[in-house]
Amino acid sequence: MSARKIFVTNALPYANGDIHLGHLVGYVQADIWVRYQRMRGNMVHYVCADDTHGAPIMLRAEKEGITPEQLIARAHASHSRDFADFLVEFDNYHSTHSDENRAYAEDIYGKLKAAGFIETRSIEQFYDPVKLMFLPDRFIKGECPKCGAKDQYGDNCEVCGAAYAPTELKNPYSAVSGAKPELRNSEHYFFRLSDPKAVAFLREWTQGVNADGSPRMPPEASNKMREWIGSEGENKLSDWDISRDAPYFGFEIPDAPGKYFYVWLDAPIGYLASFRNYADRVGGVEVTDYTDPDKAAALGTEMVHFIGKDILYFHALFWPAMLKFAGYRTPTFLNVNGFLTVDGAKMSKSRGTFITARSYLDLGLNPEWLRYYFAAKLNANIEDLDLSLDDFVAKVNSDLVGKFVNIASRCAGFIAKRFDGKLGESDVTALDAFSAESLDAVSKAYNDRDYSVALREVMRLADAANVYVNDEKPWELAKDPAQSERLHRVCSTALNQFRALAIMLKPVLPGLAAQVESFLCVPAFAWTDLFRPLPAGHVIDAYKHLMTRIERKQIDALIDANKESLEAPVAAAAPAKQEAKAVAKPEKAAEASAEDAASPISIDDFMKVDLRVAKIVAAEHVEGAAKLLRLQLDIGEEKPRQVFAGIKSAYDPATLVGRLTVMVANLAPRKMKFGMSEGMVLAAADEAGEVPGIFLMSPDVGAEPGMRVR
Ligand code: MSP
Ligand code: ZN
Repeated sequence: MSARKIFVTNALPYANGDIHLGHLVGYVQADIWVRYQRMRGNMVHYVCADDTHGAPIMLRAEKEGITPEQLIARAHASHSRDFADFLVEFDNYHSTHSDENRAYAEDIYGKLKAAGFIETRSIEQFYDPVKLMFLPDRFIKGECPKCGAKDQYGDNCEVCGAAYAPTELKNPYSAVSGAKPELRNSEHYFFRLSDPKAVAFLREWTQGVNADGSPRMPPEASNKMREWIGSEGENKLSDWDISRDAPYFGFEIPDAPGKYFYVWLDAPIGYLASFRNYADRVGGVEVTDYTDPDKAAALGTEMVHFIGKDILYFHALFWPAMLKFAGYRTPTFLNVNGFLTVDGAKMSKSRGTFITARSYLDLGLNPEWLRYYFAAKLNANIEDLDLSLDDFVAKVNSDLVGKFVNIASRCAGFIAKRFDGKLGESDVTALDAFSAESLDAVSKAYNDRDYSVALREVMRLADAANVYVNDEKPWELAKDPAQSERLHRVCSTALNQFRALAIMLKPVLPGLAAQVESFLCVPAFAWTDLFRPLPAGHVIDAYKHLMTRIERKQIDALIDANKESLEAPVAAAAPAKQEAKAVAKPEKAAEASAEDAASPISIDDFMKVDLRVAKIVAAEHVEGAAKLLRLQLDIGEEKPRQVFAGIKSAYDPATLVGRLTVMVANLAPRKMKFGMSEGMVLAAADEAGEVPGIFLMSPDVGAEPGMRVR
């Protein structure tokens, strides 16, 4: 069979968030598949990118006082590093804010327009009269039209679960400025998904199969699509709004000043952009072999997307329709992963189970432990995957350390000490468990993304190898010089079994496999190496310990580090003691003149004040208060704090929203005429009254809400 040629992508993570363990499910799943295909000699181009456009990213940058370009550059660096450290090895990690992406987006849009699939229409939408922008649904809040719950988002209620349009909210307000939004008309661009040609295409595409009879998505996904599209005669698809009005961070639509492509239009196009950028960089890869429908059919190239279940709609409807009617090839397969839960529940910041990739690495946990655990639980269905923390510890320790590594650690030393590192003959019958049938089962399971099945079979073989070692007892044989030849044979056999296991585990544990390759003095494993054991006379290196056990206390520390609360430990805490001494030196204190406002305090006194970086998420006038503004301050807690500040004479509330300041977070709450005040913001003023004004404190760029100030 000739080698497969596959273009593989992972969903593009948003640039305004950190990579967390939930993300990693899909990335690890794809990376394993890519590594397996390459070990089989298939040709794979594996790309990803950051998804950088949209209002949330624009507003987030503004709040931080940086440009969107700065924000996305920071995300690109941290995401690339997180993926690399989890051994997710993309050929290219690009950005949707790139020349290549603009070129593809304009090309696809232009072709859709020429084919009659683009239409403009005036729609009515909420507009923020203070911020001067149309508001995305997520940035409109108000009372739920069903149950009346306050402060619900514009698309659905978190209290009763109702879904609705933002215009149905009672007493709506802008989450950006707090202003009451107005309904305004604006011209929008639509992709005509309700066109009978599009509906007919999507019905076939989502329910049908590829030319070779393979499915295009898992059966659950096809079924979902059938519900969404509706059956023959009924048409549930509506046109898709693909434009947003300025101000917006994205690509301006050609010949439509002030109109931008909606982020989800250019996001999947980013797959092609990353591929193009890669091909231009390395040379020798012809992108159109994978994107042109005729060439793709003639060459049998594949295009496979790995996505999470929440973005199926975009990938199974909008994306194939865009490609099809713009004259591009459509995807060969959508792999859809379920969501990660931790100990049976949704990841939660307050419980500490919203675990960032970086915190896991920073605490010294081994990324391959997690890769193994995910793989051991992954299958080809769209099921949620539970990271059960006790089970994680138990499974990794028992399978990887107890079963796999143990084989080598019990046998390798004898080869080095007694036989100059040279392998002897192997027991052919002991290798029988590794039959062609069993290896094919592992192969097929990897190819079908049934990793749990593959690893169960690998562990069955590891058990067989351990039974062999336990029965032969090399440590007993070693005591009897007459048994030297037998000892040689047993250890060589066990190491060949170990090698076969390492080959089969390599897609999941590439780092560990590389250590094994180096210890066995062999080139990078290929799948076909499974069928050729190492011969007598092959020289290996001394065994070095391959993997340590996980301890439950490491997991507890991880949960602690991810708990978002005021008591969260702060990285800067350690050196504080020495610096503090310098500040509190008696000579310094003596220099202070009698007029100084403050008499010396100890560092312990100072440390009693819990100062935090706070983000002003809302600010408004207080009716009946001459000097006060009501502020809502985000310091990384579940709900913002309400604080009344006497800064009305100096600040227009609208200009405060989004900026960072510093607050005293452990001031006893005070009941005021207008409500509770749960802290105090810091501001400077000239007490002599010569310089007018009040000056709110600001941290330097880069500080995050909740950081301790000391
Ligand atoms: N930017 C879009 C994707 C655009 S693709 C053209 C997006 N970004 S995301 O950062 O929210 O998610 C990236 C991927 O991670 C998606 O496949 C998403 O489904 C997946 N996951 C995000 N949270 C997840 C879990 N808790 N569990 C499993 N997968 C999760 O969506
Ligand atoms: Zn409700």
